[in-house]
Amino acid sequence: MRLGILTGGGDCPGLNAVIRAAAIRTIRTYGGQMLGFENGWRGLFENRTRELDLAAVSGILPRGGTMLGTSRADPFRQPGGVEALRAAIASHALDGLLVCGGEGTLAAAARVSEAGLAIIGIPKTIDNDVPGTDYSFGFDTALTTVVRAVDALHSTAESHDRVLVVEVMGRSTGWLAICAGIAGGADVVAAPEEPVSVEETCEVIRRRIARGRDFSIVVVAEGASFKAESDGRVVEPPVRVDAEGRRRFGGVGELLAREIEARLGIETRTVTLGYVQRGGTPTAFDRLLGTRMGIAAVDLAHERNYGRMVSLQGARLGSTDLQVVRQGPRGVDHELYEVARVFFG
Ligand code: F6P
Repeated sequence: MRLGILTGGGDCPGLNAVIRAAAIRTIRTYGGQMLGFENGWRGLFENRTRELDLAAVSGILPRGGTMLGTSRADPFRQPGGVEALRAAIASHALDGLLVCGGEGTLAAAARVSEAGLAIIGIPKTIDNDVPGTDYSFGFDTALTTVVRAVDALHSTAESHDRVLVVEVMGRSTGWLAICAGIAGGADVVAAPEEPVSVEETCEVIRRRIARGRDFSIVVVAEGASFKAESDGRVVEPPVRVDAEGRRRFGGVGELLAREIEARLGIETRTVTLGYVQRGGTPTAFDRLLGTRMGIAAVDLAHERNYGRMVSLQGARLGSTDLQVVRQGPRGVDHELYEVARVFFG
């Protein structure tokens, strides 16, 4: 068996665990070979490859990022499209291709699979919003980073009697914001799918002050928006467009901070955690999940069970139809948000 593997979309901790596990499973268990494509789908179009033998994947388990590099290149916008992909896979005599990606990369993988190519999907993202799996690796590491930051911010917020607005990643879902809010003890949490108003946020801060807590921590997802009910406006996340035509978020935390300061007259500062959330060594949970997913993906390929995505359902690792990713981002369970709300104020 000869397989290919690529990592696409934003990087995340745990990708190297997948690459290592998939290569070692292929070589040791099935006597096969693994070929890595560099920089996501682009590696297939530009024929940039790396043979992933045992030496090549040695020592990468604790490393963040991806040894193969990544890009957000969309195969359907590359010259030759899916036929060029088919030719690339044939030219390397591959039985199948393992695609590690978030929502965008896996949606493309689903279309490629529908066109008849032998694809297995592996869900990765710090946003935890890929449908069809309860968890994607990368999320636990990012969550740990955010919670550590929120812990550190508590003492300085308290010393200065300030409100600190912490902006975290999450373009269309608030998994990081809500889970970090619960685990870090935030006073207000806002997510794209669970918005709060500016007034409600200010009311929580006022209630805290009334009981002698002169500081507050507000955690917001970069894609959240806030109704300003008193004057009928909506504070929207600023959006820019990147080179691939993809929307980039960032800045809503600062806009909210200004609204709070203007209404309450309390010094309010913003902390934007940014890419630090995606970097660093993976937690044990993400190494474990990445390793299990890498092995399960190779096992599916060995069974010639293509068109599947490996997935975690509860504690059990299984697989689901890859086409599930076309449903769009998976929002946070409302029950989780209700837990966060218990601690508002
Ligand atoms: O990987 C997903 C994500 O982390 C989003 O939460 C974030 O908006 C986006 O990536 C930013 O990535 P980039 O700036 O690399 O496109």
